[in-house]
Amino acid sequence: FPIDKTRAFGKLILFGEHLVVYKAPALVGAVSAYTDCQIEYLDDAPGKLEVIDNRPAVPLYKETKKEEGDEAINLTLKHLGVDPAVRGIRLTFGGDLCCASGIGASAAQVVSLARAVNIADSRNLTEDEINAAGYEGEKGYHGTPSGIDNTAATFGGLLRFQRTDGAPIFEKKSFPSAIRIVYASTGITASTTKVVGDVRAMKEADEAWFAEIMTEYMSLVKEAEKVVEEGDLIKLGKLMDQNHSILQKMTVSCKELDDLVDAARAAGAVGAKMSGTGRGGLMIALTPTEEIQDAVASALEKLAPQVWKTTFA
Ligand code: MEV
Repeated sequence: FPIDKTRAFGKLILFGEHLVVYKAPALVGAVSAYTDCQIEYLDDAPGKLEVIDNRPAVPLYKETKKEEGDEAINLTLKHLGVDPAVRGIRLTFGGDLCCASGIGASAAQVVSLARAVNIADSRNLTEDEINAAGYEGEKGYHGTPSGIDNTAATFGGLLRFQRTDGAPIFEKKSFPSAIRIVYASTGITASTTKVVGDVRAMKEADEAWFAEIMTEYMSLVKEAEKVVEEGDLIKLGKLMDQNHSILQKMTVSCKELDDLVDAARAAGAVGAKMSGTGRGGLMIALTPTEEIQDAVASALEKLAPQVWKTTFA
C-alpha cells in the first residue's frame, strides 16, 4: 500500500481566519509536515470501524477532539460511499504533523483518509474530489467550515482562498523568496465549532461592528496580496501584526497567544499573529533570516510547550 501517496498537509493561515467563513479572501500556507493513512478492509468483521491514531499531538489534543474526529471520519466515509457495516475497516493514521489546534490537523486527517480510500478502491478520484471529501469530513469538526483547511491539506503550497456562494475559488501564489517562519502552540486546544459559533453570535448581535471589522480586513488583505506579489517580507510582517489586532478586536485571541506574539516581535520577528481558530491553538511569526528564526524560536521556547521552525517554499 503506497502510504506516501496518502499524505495531506497541515496549514497555517497568514491572513483571514474567521473572516474567510464570511467569504473574505484569505492567504494560507501549507507546512511540509503531513498526516498519512493506512486502510485495511476486514472482510470477516462487518460493522467494525477501528481507528489507530499514531499521530504526534500536543497533550490533551486527541482526548479533546476524539468525538469530532470520529464524526469527521464517519462523514468522509459516508461521502465516499464506504460503509463499515458491510465490510469492517481498520484505519491507521500517522505522519509527522503534530496535532495542535490551529494547524489544520483535522483536515489533514480526513484528506489523507480520502486519499487512502481512493488508492485502496482504485477509484481514480481527482484532487478536487479528494478535496470535496475532505470538506465533508471537516463538517464533523464544525458546522460551517470555510473549506480553507481541507484545500490547503489537499493542494499544499501558498494559496489565496475564497469561499463563494458556489464552489470556493483558490489559486496558488508564489513568493519570490522562501518565507521563513516559527510557529508555537499555546498548549490549549480550542473547539473550532465553539469559537466560530461565538463569532457568528457576535456578528448577529452587532452587524455594524462586524461590517467595520470586515472593511478594515478587506483593505488589509488587498494590500497583503500586493505585498506577496512584490515579495516584501517586512511589509508582509506589518500586515500580519495588523491582522492580529483585528483578531484581538474579534476576541478570538487570548492572553497566551498575545504573550507569544509579543515575545516573537521582541526577539526580532518582523510580524506575528495568532493563526487558525484562536482562544488557544497556535501563533505564527515571520522571521526573515535563519538567525532571527533561531532567536525567535528560543524566545518562544521559554513560554510555549511546543515550537516549530519551518519555511513556506
Ligand atoms: C480554522 O483553521 C479557520 C477558521 O477560519 C474556520 C474556517 O475557516 O473554517 C477559524
